[in-house]
Amino acid sequence: MLSHLSLTYRLAVTLLLLNLVLGLLFLHVKVSHAVRGNDESPGISMEDLRMHFQGDPTVNRLQFMMRGPMHDKFATADEYETIVDWIAQGATREDYESDVAPILAQRCVSCHGPDGERSDSPLTSYEQVLRYAQTTDTGISYDALADASHLYLVSLSCMATLMGLVFYTTRWHGRWKGVLIALPLFCASANVLSWWSAKQSDFFTWLVYMTGLVYGLTMLAMILLTVIDLWVLAEERPEPLPAAPIASRPIPSEVQSTDHTAGPAAIQRPNAADKVQQSPESPPPSA
Ligand code: HEC
Repeated sequence: MLSHLSLTYRLAVTLLLLNLVLGLLFLHVKVSHAVRGNDESPGISMEDLRMHFQGDPTVNRLQFMMRGPMHDKFATADEYETIVDWIAQGATREDYESDVAPILAQRCVSCHGPDGERSDSPLTSYEQVLRYAQTTDTGISYDALADASHLYLVSLSCMATLMGLVFYTTRWHGRWKGVLIALPLFCASANVLSWWSAKQSDFFTWLVYMTGLVYGLTMLAMILLTVIDLWVLAEERPEPLPAAPIASRPIPSEVQSTDHTAGPAAIQRPNAADKVQQSPESPPPSA
């Protein structure tokens, strides 16, 4: 039981809960960052997720990424506008060389170049950039989904397992407790599995949204209930051992008596052993 722990251990558990809150918070930041700007309003909406998975058919891939997740790579809004204008005016090679290439070289090629983390989506030549500027956006690639699936599944289920174990040892009880422990674990796998169908179906995009929401809410509920158990509900110490009050009672006179034969069998036993040990030393009856 958590409530039986000493102050030090309860502080340690509280720190673990704090880490879990931070973990959830940064997860939210990471997801908002990935889908940011898709519908040009703050927060994670259904529309953001739908565009993240299925793309936005009204823009090309380059513009979609520059408007959303890559937006903060630009140093100024002018740089972004220059490339958007270049696409709108027909994406010519001359304008690319004079206006666009210098911006990409400075802001994008560190990742989207031969030595960058996204060398598989290079932005170092006119042809490469034009490919993104001409393809209609179709959302996140299956490669990127595979990359993220493992990472998210492990981190979501580790956090849910830790939280479930801690919450299990609280004093709360009832069938709902098991449901609350199981829900985030279920949501973690349902969420990541739904990604793979969210590119084709709005229903699965909705499922990603809902399982993500339920995951966050059930984790926060368990954290809150655990804090209440640790610090708000009356402190509960282990029941004192039943032997203690009996031992402190005055010993009845007949037990105090030196006549061991009057005591219970347990008291007689060492007495019998004494006799066995003493017998070899006692003189033979004939002496
Ligand atoms: C710090 C590294 C980094 C920098 C700098 C960066 N990107 Fe990216 N870029 C990424 C990552 C990681 C992805 C994959 C993420 C995703 O698909 O959501 C990506 C994906 C893209 C894609 C989609 C590629 C595809 O195959 O679908 C485009 C287009 C893109 N970035 C454009 C840009 C532009 C334009 C810039 C400069 C303004 C830029 N990026 C700067 C890391 C970077």
